[in-house]
Amino acid sequence: MLVVAMPDVCAGEMGPGVLVHGGAGDVDPARRSDHVDGCREAARAGFAVLRSGGSALDAAQAAARVLEDLPMFNAGTGAALTEEGTVEHDAALMEGTTLRAGGVAAVRGFKNPVDLARAVLEDGRHVLLVGDGAARFARAHSFEAVDEASLVTARAREALAKVLSGRGATGWAGGTIGAVARDGRGGVAAATSTGGTVGKRLGRVGDSPILGAGTLADDRACAVSATGDGEGILKVGLARVVALALERGEVAESVLVSALERMRERTGATGGLIVFTPAGRFAAARSTATMSWAVAGERGQDAGI
Ligand code: GLY
Repeated sequence: MLVVAMPDVCAGEMGPGVLVHGGAGDVDPARRSDHVDGCREAARAGFAVLRSGGSALDAAQAAARVLEDLPMFNAGTGAALTEEGTVEHDAALMEGTTLRAGGVAAVRGFKNPVDLARAVLEDGRHVLLVGDGAARFARAHSFEAVDEASLVTARAREALAKVLSGRGATGWAGGTIGAVARDGRGGVAAATSTGGTVGKRLGRVGDSPILGAGTLADDRACAVSATGDGEGILKVGLARVVALALERGEVAESVLVSALERMRERTGATGGLIVFTPAGRFAAARSTATMSWAVAGERGQDAGI
């Protein structure tokens, strides 16, 4: 099933399945196996949705929700904090068959931003809602707001303290989460969710909720989720670069490697990518020291970092 397995890129053929990432970065060696286990759990949860008849969209959302709930990842509970110690989530979800999409950005006070993104998608009137408007929309759609303190972990506070004292990096050790899925009909979907960078300005929006930057799904090309330096990913439109190359028929794993190289050359930014094509090929690549990932599907399971 796994046809390429190198430290910075892997790829294979899966048919229906779910591939997830737990963020590009440099996870402490002592924590790497936890990150891989978290990804495995999420990929399996997504594949269980496919097995019970769910769509690629349902599977990507379910896998992303699992990762949002695991406090080691920079999304949902445990997300990176703003310079004021608050939590502002970004997330997006997109379906490749219909191009339906939804996202929220800089939204406060909800446990699973990917579920808010799904509600925006189902509502269909807009693609992206931000800040207070996104929160108001969520409450109007029966999402229960949570006490922000329940989303903040000791590790997130520590990371912020280091950044504010000039001793830490604004990039999370790893990181933003994402899921891409392919269902039995060849439909693909992508989800990405993040707290963004540590100590970010209030109102900063990264690449994750922006279609064509951090997230994209189009059955003519692929489903893709990006992770890494959001400002660099936004500047090059990383997900769109990948989708256009796959639509031209290029090989998934080569496309990911060259898209990351090009981003580094043009902006200095590093990151990672996962992709699933309608034909059932999946690939993951990174230009950072680590990116946890896992795949689960009809042809088996695999994971790494
Ligand atoms: N890639 C996530 C962010 O920069 O917000």
